[in-house]
Amino acid sequence: MKVAVIGTGYVGLPTGVGFAELGHEVVCVDSNADKIKDLNSGKITLFEEGLEDLFLKNKNNGRIKFSKNIEDVQGAKVIIIAVGTPPHPVSKEADMKYLFVAASEISEYICDYTVVAIKSTVPVGTGDDVAEIISKSNPSAEFDVVSLPEFLREGFAVYDFFNPDRIVIGTDSKRARAVLDELYEYFTDKTTLLYVSRKSSEAIKYASNSFLAVKVHFINEVADFCEKSGAKIEEVAKGMGLDERIGPKFLRPGPGYGGSCFPKDTMAMAQMARKVGTQLNLVEATIKYNDQRKLEMAKRIADEVSSEANPTVAILGLTFKGGTDDVRESPAIEIVCELLNYGIKLRVYDPKGMDNAKSILNDSVYFAESIKDACDRADVCVILTEWEDFKKIDYSELKNKMKILKILDLRNILNQDEALRAGFIYKKLG
Ligand code: NAD
Ligand code: UGA
Repeated sequence: MKVAVIGTGYVGLPTGVGFAELGHEVVCVDSNADKIKDLNSGKITLFEEGLEDLFLKNKNNGRIKFSKNIEDVQGAKVIIIAVGTPPHPVSKEADMKYLFVAASEISEYICDYTVVAIKSTVPVGTGDDVAEIISKSNPSAEFDVVSLPEFLREGFAVYDFFNPDRIVIGTDSKRARAVLDELYEYFTDKTTLLYVSRKSSEAIKYASNSFLAVKVHFINEVADFCEKSGAKIEEVAKGMGLDERIGPKFLRPGPGYGGSCFPKDTMAMAQMARKVGTQLNLVEATIKYNDQRKLEMAKRIADEVSSEANPTVAILGLTFKGGTDDVRESPAIEIVCELLNYGIKLRVYDPKGMDNAKSILNDSVYFAESIKDACDRADVCVILTEWEDFKKIDYSELKNKMKILKILDLRNILNQDEALRAGFIYKKLG
C-alpha cells in the first residue's frame, strides 16, 4: 500500500520507517528542506535506538522515499499527518497551525478515495476541522479523516512501533476501517486494534498522557513523603507495583517529568476541559507540582554547595530522559538554567543530547567531553537523566578528579552501598 507521512520528526520518521519495514511503499514529506536533504543523503536526523539500520535498509531497497514536495503524497491510500502541535505561546492550548497548513496543502492532491489519518496529538474535535478544511479546498475529494493517535515513547520508538500495547483508531467509516485493517494487517493477531469514535480516540491520547503524568507526580510526592517519614521509596514503589491494579511502571521518582509531550498535553487537556465547562483538578495539580519540583530540585542542588566559595557542579544528563537526544522541556535544562541564577559554575555532560543542549544553553556552561571531564574539580556530581552510561560510573576515576566526593542522584540509578564503599557521600530521592 502507498502510505504518505507528513512530518519526519520523532513520530513521523519511526512511523514511516516502520511501515516501510512492514512492506508498504512509503513517502515521507517534510517542509524542512535541510532534514530532507540529510535523509536523502543517508544521514539520520534524530537518535532512536535501532532506527538508523532500518532507515538505511529501507532507503536502500527503495521502500521509503523522502521529499519536501507535498505533491508527492499523490496516490497514497493513507496520508498520515505527524506534524508538531506545540503549546500556543499565549493560550497554552495545542497550536494547530502546522496541522491545518498540512491539511490544506494535501487537499488538492487527494484524487481517489484516501484516508487522512491524524497521528499528531490534537484537541477533541480537530478531526472535524481537518475534514472541513479539505472539503472546502477540494470539494470533489473523496476521503475520510481518521484519528490515529501515537503512543510511542522516545528512546523506544522502534520497539513500540512493532510492539504496541494497542492501536487506537477513531472513525465511524466502514470504508476507512477496511483501509486501516489492511495497513495494520501485520498487527491483527499481535495486539488490539481498538476502533472508537473519532472524538473518543482524540480524548484517549490526552487522557493516557495526563494519567501517566499524574502517576509520576504521585510517586514524586511519595518520595518526598518517604524522605520525611523514614520509609524507602524503592521498597514502597516495589510493594505498590506488585499490586496488578497499580502496576510497576511509572513509579520511578525523578526531578519532574519533561519531554515534548507530558508538559504540553497536560496543559492542553486542562485548557480543553475548562473550555467545555469542566475542570480536571488532578491534572491541574500535577502541572503545578511538576513546575515547582524542578525549582525545588535546583534549590536542593544549590544547598549542597552553599558553603563552598565559587562552587562548581557537575551535571550528568541534559535530555528529558535516557535513550534520546531530545532536550525539549527537559527538567535537566530547566534546573541548569535555575542553577545559573544562583551563580553556580556548571560542567555538563550528556551522551546524546549535547548538540541540542548547546543550542539552548550556548556558552553559559562548560560542555564536558565525558563524565570524568564534567566532574573535574566539582563540589558535587548531580545525576539528572537515567542514562545507562551513568549507571556504570567509575568511582575510582572520579576520586582523583572531584574536589568533594559527593553524588546527588536525582534519578536513583546508582547502588548506594557501592557509592558509600567507594568513599562518596551519596544522596538520592526518597
Ligand atoms: P517534531 O517537531 O519532531 O516533528 C514535526 C515535523 O513536522 C518537523 O520535522 C517539521 O518540519 C514537520 N512539519 C511541520 N509542518 C509541516 C508541513 N506543513 N508539511 C510537512 N512537514 C511539516 O514533532 P514530534 O515530536 O514528531 O511530534 C509530532 C506530533 O506527534 C505531535 O503532535 C506530538 O504531540 C505527537 N506525539 C509525539 C511523540 C513523541 O515521542 N515525540 C509521541 C506521541 C505523539
Ligand atoms: C510519553 C508517553 O509515555 C508515550 O506513550 C507518548 O506517546 C509520548 O509521551 C507522547 O505523547 O509524546 P515520552 O515523552 O517519550 O513518552 O517519555 P516517557 O517515558 O513517558 O517519560 C516522560 C517523562 O516522565 C520523562 O521526563 C521521564 O523521565 C519521566 N518519568 C517517567 C519519571 O520521572 N518517572 C517514571 O517512572 C516514568
